[in-house]
Amino acid sequence: MNARFEPSGPLRGAIQVPPDKSISHRAAIVGAMASEPVRVRNYLDAADTRSTLTAIQRLGAIVEDRGDELVIRGCGLRNALPPTNPIDVGNAGTLLRLLPGWLSFQQGRSFLLDGDESIRRRPVDRIAEPLKKMGATIEARDGRYPPFTVHGAALGGIDYELPVASAQVKSCVLLAGLATDSTTVIEPVASRDHTERMLAAAGAPIHRIETPEGGHRTTVSNTDELELELVEVPGDLSSAAFLIAAGVLVRDSRLVLQGVGVNWTRAGFLRILERMGAIVLSDAEPPGFFAPREPVADIDVRSAPIEGTTVEADEVPLAIDELPLVALVGCFAEGETLVRGAGELRIKESDRIATVVDGLRGLGAEIEALPDGFVVTGTGGLRGGVLDAHGDHRLALLGAVAGLASERGVEVVGMEAADVSYPRFADGVAELVS
Ligand code: S3P
Repeated sequence: MNARFEPSGPLRGAIQVPPDKSISHRAAIVGAMASEPVRVRNYLDAADTRSTLTAIQRLGAIVEDRGDELVIRGCGLRNALPPTNPIDVGNAGTLLRLLPGWLSFQQGRSFLLDGDESIRRRPVDRIAEPLKKMGATIEARDGRYPPFTVHGAALGGIDYELPVASAQVKSCVLLAGLATDSTTVIEPVASRDHTERMLAAAGAPIHRIETPEGGHRTTVSNTDELELELVEVPGDLSSAAFLIAAGVLVRDSRLVLQGVGVNWTRAGFLRILERMGAIVLSDAEPPGFFAPREPVADIDVRSAPIEGTTVEADEVPLAIDELPLVALVGCFAEGETLVRGAGELRIKESDRIATVVDGLRGLGAEIEALPDGFVVTGTGGLRGGVLDAHGDHRLALLGAVAGLASERGVEVVGMEAADVSYPRFADGVAELVS
């Protein structure tokens, strides 16, 4: 499906963004692990999060759609039922990495997980390694790719230092740790902490301290049950980010994005934009904050002249899905924008260093790839042209925003995957053009 995005006039108005994807996945998984029914309001209706609902149903959870909320009747921590056919995670990397944490302690039961073509290229060795250390058996294709089987076992606790900052891997080990005497995950730098907050809200024994380097040591221990009455999923900051970038780049714009989750471990993009001189106001949380809930705020955005900035490794996990947008904003800035320590981008839905650099260069950007990031020389604008999304929804939306702010418009090609979010984005933008 191709789509064309023409240069836009000022964007003005207030708009709600789709519900948070990361928190929706976690609500479904923790709901499936809980003993009492969990009500979930504002669950994201998208292909990835539908895969998670289907997966937990296949494992024995009941999901009731009551229109204004979902009610998830879970299996209880230790009672997931093995389905006869493989669990299909579709295109959902978060489901692929988190679910095995729970499955790994379903003693004597085995679970086969598989997904679409792109998921089969995404490594699972980084979750297999700690789960094996804890006592589970994992069999993966070529030792590291889906399809793979988790054989549940009685688990022992570990202290595990993440080799790379990854919220998905951290979450997997913490979920498995709920069946151990004590398990500690040490993350070198902070990454999104939605799992920790939800487990704390569900009454799990969880404790976190900050390391002197700005990372975390998070410890969980054995529990018999999780209880979570209600999860209200906030608006997705990663979806809001596209409109925020459009509001910053399209001259004379002023937007308010309502009800957005502003957990500081997700809000790195707002801090980066502020550093670049963009006018983005919100009641975001102060860094370091931890509570058993997710903060929500309205974000007020105005277009502004911007300057280049540097994003280093410690900030990367806090803005990981927004780094392609940092490259785009960098094209419009004065001076150089450098992102490094972001090698993780190469194993997302596409190699997001290669696809962003090629994509933006094709629109007239001065951008070079680095092994672990990119460097952009701002030229104050973008010509436009054709951008290949390589089946990656965040690339498609990057092309859409680039089109609105460009001189000649952008045609986005290569987005035939099912979960295309830009029709919704385009409708949102149409409402805002003043
Ligand atoms: C996610 C964590 C990040 C992010 C992904 C969602 C999550 O991945 O890129 O879109 O929900 O935990 P990594 O943990 O692999 O960095």
